[in-house]
Amino acid sequence: MQSALASQVPAELRERFNAARNVLVLTGAGVSAESGVPTFRGGGNSAVWKGMPFDEISSARMVERDLPAVWEWFDYRRGILQEIAPNAAHVAIARWQHKFSGFSLVTQNVDGLHQKAGSREVIEVHGSIWRARCIACHERVGIPEHGSRPLDCNNCGDRLRPDVVLFGEMLPEGAFELAADKASECELCLVVGTSALVYPAASLPEIARAGGAYLCEVNPERTPLSDFCDVVLTGKAGELLPLLEDGPRL
Ligand code: APR
Repeated sequence: MQSALASQVPAELRERFNAARNVLVLTGAGVSAESGVPTFRGGGNSAVWKGMPFDEISSARMVERDLPAVWEWFDYRRGILQEIAPNAAHVAIARWQHKFSGFSLVTQNVDGLHQKAGSREVIEVHGSIWRARCIACHERVGIPEHGSRPLDCNNCGDRLRPDVVLFGEMLPEGAFELAADKASECELCLVVGTSALVYPAASLPEIARAGGAYLCEVNPERTPLSDFCDVVLTGKAGELLPLLEDGPRL
C-alpha cells in the first residue's frame, strides 16, 4: 500500500527522474526550512534585525553606512547555522550528484547546508555566509565554522565584507551565467523551496523550459512559477524529495 505522500509523486515524474541523464536542481530558502532556518517570505516569516527590516540590514547601502553592524548580523546568522544540520532534502540532493551523468545544483541560499550534506560544485548565485570578500581588491577568504573570522584582507589590507549578494547588488560574476548554461541543457529541472520572486535566479526555470526541460516545483505553497510547471508537488522538500528515487516507498 503506497503512503498518501508517495501517491503525490506522479508515475511520469518518477519515470523521468529515474531515466534522466541531465538534471538541474534550483533551491531556495524553503529547502532549509525543515532544518530550522527561517525563510525570507512564505509562511508568514519576516526577518528583522534590531528593528531593521531584512532588506535594510542586508543591503549594499548598509555596508557603506555601517559595516560593523552588517558583520554583527552575519555573525549572528553564522552562529545559528553552526548548530543546524542539513535535512532529508539536502541529503537526497547530495545523493543525486552521483546518480545522474549530468547534474547541476544551483542555490540561492547562502547557508552552506548543501555542502554540509555532501554536495560538491554547488553554484551559489547569492554567495555564501561562510566567505568574506575584500571591499577593495575583491580577494575572497573562507570563514571557519568554528573560530574567529578574518578582519582585514590578507592581500591588500583593506576591510572585508560578507561575500553574500546584498539587496541592491548584482550577482557574482559568472555564477548566474554558468547556472543559465546548465539550465538550458538540462532535461529535468526541479525547483525546490523558492518563492520564485527574486530575479535573475527566478528566470532559470524559464530558461530550462525554453530548452525543453520537464519542470517540477516542490513547495507547500503556490508560487508565480506553479502554473508554468509540468508538475507541482505540494508539500515539504524533506518529505517529498526522497520519494522521487526509484521504487515506491511504503
Ligand atoms: N519545503 C519546500 N518549500 C518550502 C518549505 C519546505 N519545507 N517551507 C517553505 N517553503 C517555501 C515557501 O512556501 C516559499 O515559497 O519556500 C519558499 C521560500 O521563499 P523565500 O523566503 O522568498 O526564499 P527564496 O525564494 O529563496 O528567496 C530568494 O530572496 O531575500 C532574498 O537573497 C534572498 O536568496 C534569497 C532570495
